[in-house]
Amino acid sequence: MSGTWLSDWARNTARRLLAAELPRRWAHTAGVARRAGQVARVLPVEERELLVAAAWVHDIGYASELVDTGLHSLDGAHYLVRAGLDRRVCGLVAHHSGASAVAELTGLGERLAEFGDERGRLRDALWYADMTTSPDGHPTTVEARLAEIRRRRGPDDPVVRALEVNVDERLAAVRRVHRLLRRTYQPVRDRG
Ligand SMILES: [Fe+2]
Repeated sequence: MSGTWLSDWARNTARRLLAAELPRRWAHTAGVARRAGQVARVLPVEERELLVAAAWVHDIGYASELVDTGLHSLDGAHYLVRAGLDRRVCGLVAHHSGASAVAELTGLGERLAEFGDERGRLRDALWYADMTTSPDGHPTTVEARLAEIRRRRGPDDPVVRALEVNVDERLAAVRRVHRLLRRTYQPVRDRG
């Protein structure tokens, strides 16, 4: 999983943008990438690196030099387009973890829709990795993660308000990946 151009670029880019300015976000990012590596086996071999690369860059839109619309998934995806990255990775980042519902609430739905929102295992696996990793980068359950998001952001935050629309979709993605993991032989390590 390591040593390939795309995931190396993604890791280095995320480190440059997040590590110094947003160390907690960087710790979360590293945890999501680790989780992605652990669950990548549910994907065809050719999609595994896309997952790990998307995990590294999924939250780069929080970096101040990238903030434009204020929707981190969209700002991150715009940066990736400018960098010439694989359009699938751009779309995965743009739409990760229920972003479209947040975009609708913040008037950015049309702009987000410029990015493809693929369905399937690759998308599910990215959402899974994000939704089962704490803000500090530790493994957690999706239920604990959702509770933490509500607590940390408060009821007026668009991400929390969007849960009314996307929480079932988030839970369903996690459940689908759990099912796929159970069908494989190798147990997931480091489940907290
Ligand atoms: Fe995240």
